[in-house]
Amino acid sequence: MTIKWNANLYDQKHDFVSKFGESLVNLLAPQKYELILDVGCGTGDLANEIAQFDAVVLGIDASNEMIQSAQHKFPALTFETQDAALMDYTHQFDAVFSNAALHWMKQQDKVIDNIYRALKPHGRFVAEMGGKGNIASIVRALRKSMEELQLPFEEQYFPWYFPTAEEYQTMLENEGFTVQMITLYERPTKLQGDDGLRNWLVMFSDNVLQHLSDHEKELVYAKCEELLKPDYYQDKQWIADYWRLRFVATKLGT
Ligand code: BEZ
Repeated sequence: MTIKWNANLYDQKHDFVSKFGESLVNLLAPQKYELILDVGCGTGDLANEIAQFDAVVLGIDASNEMIQSAQHKFPALTFETQDAALMDYTHQFDAVFSNAALHWMKQQDKVIDNIYRALKPHGRFVAEMGGKGNIASIVRALRKSMEELQLPFEEQYFPWYFPTAEEYQTMLENEGFTVQMITLYERPTKLQGDDGLRNWLVMFSDNVLQHLSDHEKELVYAKCEELLKPDYYQDKQWIADYWRLRFVATKLGT
């Protein structure tokens, strides 16, 4: 599944993604000269945060548009267009970092395998992703809107993977990681502006709605707003029901 990204819209309306990620960088605690891989780096803001600690960071993202934007914003840093399910780094990195990206990757087994291989022994994997329950109300509204509009909801276009802590811990341990910490927590997230929900849908629901015409998409956006407004719009502010899965795991073997 190819996911199309609009790097400008991402930076203009969704900069909360990297703002929340700053506390994850503190958890990573980059050390001077460490080699750090940022998986799904988007437009590079957190790779740049990591570089402020004098670590050497490589940002990768499957979207060429995101990587071009990141390279333009941060010319001194290194970025590569790379799919984490296909990457082939071996024992290279002191740490792998990822924020708000892993839930877009359907081939989790391959991704975790490739991250494990990319790490040096004793390397750490510090990440946050959408977890069980993430954006459940938005997904429900999308399904209901399409049902009411008599538009088909195509399961194969559903692009996200939102695991429980137990499920993801098992996957990490099966790969050989020791999990120091894993937690699923609710983080209601403010969406910028009066048309925040609409902008979010335009940016992120394109996969789910890919088989619809522009006109049909507009109908779905409007229906979702109508359905979600009573519970998720207060004081001129849209809130998205984000649930985050945050963890720290270490590669103890080779
Ligand atoms: C998230 O960061 O949780 C997310 C963002 C866009 C779509 C789905 C989930």
